[in-house]
Amino acid sequence: MNDRSKKNAIALISGSGSNLQAIIDAAKNKEINLKIETVISNVPDAKGLKRAENENIPAFCVNNKDFSNRIDFDKNLLEEIQKYSTNFIILAGFMRILTPEFINQYKGLIVNIHPSLLPKYPGLNTHQKAIDAGEKWHGCTVHIVTEELDGGPLIIQGKIPINKCDDAKSLAARVLEVEHQIYKEALKLLISNELIYNNKKLWLNNEELKEPLEFKIK
Ligand code: GRF
Repeated sequence: MNDRSKKNAIALISGSGSNLQAIIDAAKNKEINLKIETVISNVPDAKGLKRAENENIPAFCVNNKDFSNRIDFDKNLLEEIQKYSTNFIILAGFMRILTPEFINQYKGLIVNIHPSLLPKYPGLNTHQKAIDAGEKWHGCTVHIVTEELDGGPLIIQGKIPINKCDDAKSLAARVLEVEHQIYKEALKLLISNELIYNNKKLWLNNEELKEPLEFKIK
């Protein structure tokens, strides 16, 4: 890995930040050629802020409660982010819906992880929804963020069976372990430019990626 191919990213979080930690660890282990420049949380006491501080990564909060509406919050967030020349914005458990104004400033450069096999179960409570629907399989997806909620082009998915004894909590814990494995794989491809977003589509080594890659669970 040479330093010219190193990319910068800003991570947005709202909570525990275990996905953030997995990405930081992958960068430290040189699995991905990425520098997380800053971590921003919309929740002041998010554990992920502490994780960032422990890794000497600048971290701060832009509290959505300080703003009366979504547009003003996103404007402020955007102003903070525009202070950096970042290559990617990594949503790692960021529980806010970004406005089109925000997304359009970073078209194709915002990545998210979602705890379901998209396009199934966008939005919240994905684990319970999958159990209630009697699904045999569940998992997680890394995708590009577009204006459509959890609806952008899908990069990679990790799939696990739903066990008879699973409840939403046990399933969430097993899916989270897979999340930690697949996010870095998606980032690896984006950082190396093997995977690019163009014309509302994803291109892997110049071929259109029509279906998400399937991550082989270790
Ligand atoms: C993950 O399940 C992520 O997919 C979802 O929120 C959770 C965040 O977990 N959007 P963490 O903060 O990364 O531990």
